[in-house]
Amino acid sequence: MEKIRVLIPEEDVDRKIGEIGAQISRDYAGKEVHLICVLKGGVFFTCELAKRITVPVSLDFMSVSSYGDDTKSSGVVRIVKDLDESLKDKEVLIVEDIVDSGRTLSYLVDMLKDRGPKSIRICTLLDKPSRRVKAVRVDYTCFSIPDEFVVGYGLDYAQKYRNLPYIGVVEGVE
Ligand code: IMP
Ligand code: MG
Repeated sequence: MEKIRVLIPEEDVDRKIGEIGAQISRDYAGKEVHLICVLKGGVFFTCELAKRITVPVSLDFMSVSSYGDDTKSSGVVRIVKDLDESLKDKEVLIVEDIVDSGRTLSYLVDMLKDRGPKSIRICTLLDKPSRRVKAVRVDYTCFSIPDEFVVGYGLDYAQKYRNLPYIGVVEGVE
């Protein structure tokens, strides 16, 4: 078993998601928002966020994988599961667990823009700005964190720890 150090406690994550949910509700007042959950990492955050949004919400899911090892993104993105519904004329909000190099999201946004949404924005639980390789405009960020490998709240290390209710750092992982 790896050692996990708490980086952001559960209460802080929950409070921040409440604030971001309220902000999204204000920004989309009078509209409906179509949340796109990026599986698997985005699933816990998407559920918590969706519960805090007060405008009408619809949900869809998509799974992408980057070729490469567990802790580093190779930059090549493959769609493992596509969306079920059309994005035509929808106010789309992509919900991600973490923006690291930015490669996954920049690829996703470019691809989804071509499907005719009315608008497309990004909401992420975590951001590691120091790791950015590809520029992406992130509209909502819960927490910016230093360059450490984190788990919990959907994020995994070799498919483990997604269920931790806080954000933790796996000690000894580069
Ligand atoms: P990208 O480098 O911005 O394309 O990020 C790709 C993906 O790498 C993220 O969606 C996560 O699934 C994963 N990832 C990046 N940093 C971490 C981390 O610290 N912990 C767990 N997964 C991570
Ligand atoms: Mg992810």
